[in-house]
Amino acid sequence: MDTVLVAGGAGYIGSHTLVELISAGLKVIVIDNLCNGSKVALDQVRLITGQEVRFYHGEVQDRALLNRALMENSVSAVIHFAGLKAVGESSQRPIEYYQNNVTGSLVLLDAMHEAGVKRLVFSSSATVYGSDSPVPYVESLETGNTSNPYGTTKWVVEQVLKDAVYADPELSVALLRYFNPVGAHPSGLIGEDPHGIPNNLLPYIAQVAVGKRAELSVFGDDYPTADGTCERDYLHVVDLAKGHVRALEWLAQNRGAAAFNLGTGNATSVLQIIRAFEEASGVTIPYRIAPRRAGDLPAFWADASKAERMLGWKAELGLAEMMADTWRWQSRNPNGYRSVEQGQGHLAIA
Ligand code: NAD
Ligand code: UFG
Repeated sequence: MDTVLVAGGAGYIGSHTLVELISAGLKVIVIDNLCNGSKVALDQVRLITGQEVRFYHGEVQDRALLNRALMENSVSAVIHFAGLKAVGESSQRPIEYYQNNVTGSLVLLDAMHEAGVKRLVFSSSATVYGSDSPVPYVESLETGNTSNPYGTTKWVVEQVLKDAVYADPELSVALLRYFNPVGAHPSGLIGEDPHGIPNNLLPYIAQVAVGKRAELSVFGDDYPTADGTCERDYLHVVDLAKGHVRALEWLAQNRGAAAFNLGTGNATSVLQIIRAFEEASGVTIPYRIAPRRAGDLPAFWADASKAERMLGWKAELGLAEMMADTWRWQSRNPNGYRSVEQGQGHLAIA
């Protein structure tokens, strides 16, 4: 059976994608150094799917480990999630971000080349559109005017992959530009488990809701948007995960590199998110208006019609499901995978 190597598969989007890949009948193996992922996520994926996931614990920059994983399995495609993703931190520690995200991708690409693996799905981001692009973002826009080192690492790797495809016409690469993934698997068994203080909106709200944090800071209410708070295109992580299955199907039929926006096409403000979460959970979220966060853009959302046309992918789940599933995961596992390990999580309740 064809095997998909999932780099970064023990993380948030990776673990949800494993479930969808296995449900689609694919065999998966994972490489992850667990810098922001959890081995427990893989145990939970086994609970959901009934399938054991072969796990290689380590670095994508460890060429020997990559070679071993590629040699021991008949890998036909790679999905590359293994990146550092904290926007603010990337400005503080740029070298670490370039090392991890760019060098890691180069090592992985070189190992694939040597092993004759020709298909790659790369986790890119809406941040590659930079700060001056008109909305909604469409794939044909110029990219590159990125506002932080994290975004630049994504842009650089996209350029590397385009060059690699030019040099090897047998390569096929999907550059998936994610918008704002939120939510969790409806089982409540896997979800987002950020290490430390959450940077992103939904994990922060969810931690306020379970009493781990006192209140949410809403970063700015004087933006040129309907209610003054920033607008984003939030999409359910299960929809996003399914997009990877569609992308693999596309890779099997096509050559070259193509970028696809994965979003819903809808923009939602921070205040609308707070209200939707309160409605889904029945919990009131205390918040205060705080100064703007450096680097935030007022509003952006996807034109996701290319993914629909070419991949046959369209986001199906709405805000209500995104919020309900976030809440199910967080309320059953207040300390994320540590709750599961300590038997206080979903398994103990079930
Ligand atoms: P995540 O941190 O939960 O998952 C990334 C996984 O990769 C983690 O399990 C981590 O331990 C692993 N990892 C990181 N560097 C590694 C390395 N050098 N070697 C081996 N393993 C490594 O993040 P996520 O939200 O699941 O994001 C997955 C990918 O999608 C990332 O590349 C991220 O930049 C990209 N992305 C995420 C978002 C988002 O909002 N979550 C948006 C756009 C793009
Ligand atoms: N926000 C708050 N309070 C918080 C956290 C966030 O008000 O505590 C606001 C932000 O100011 C922003 C919105 O909520 O207006 C969303 O912020 P996130 O940090 O959740 O998401 P971003 O849109 O800033 O960035 C995310 C990912 C990036 C990715 C980008 C585009 O973190 O990795 O989406 O895909 F590149």
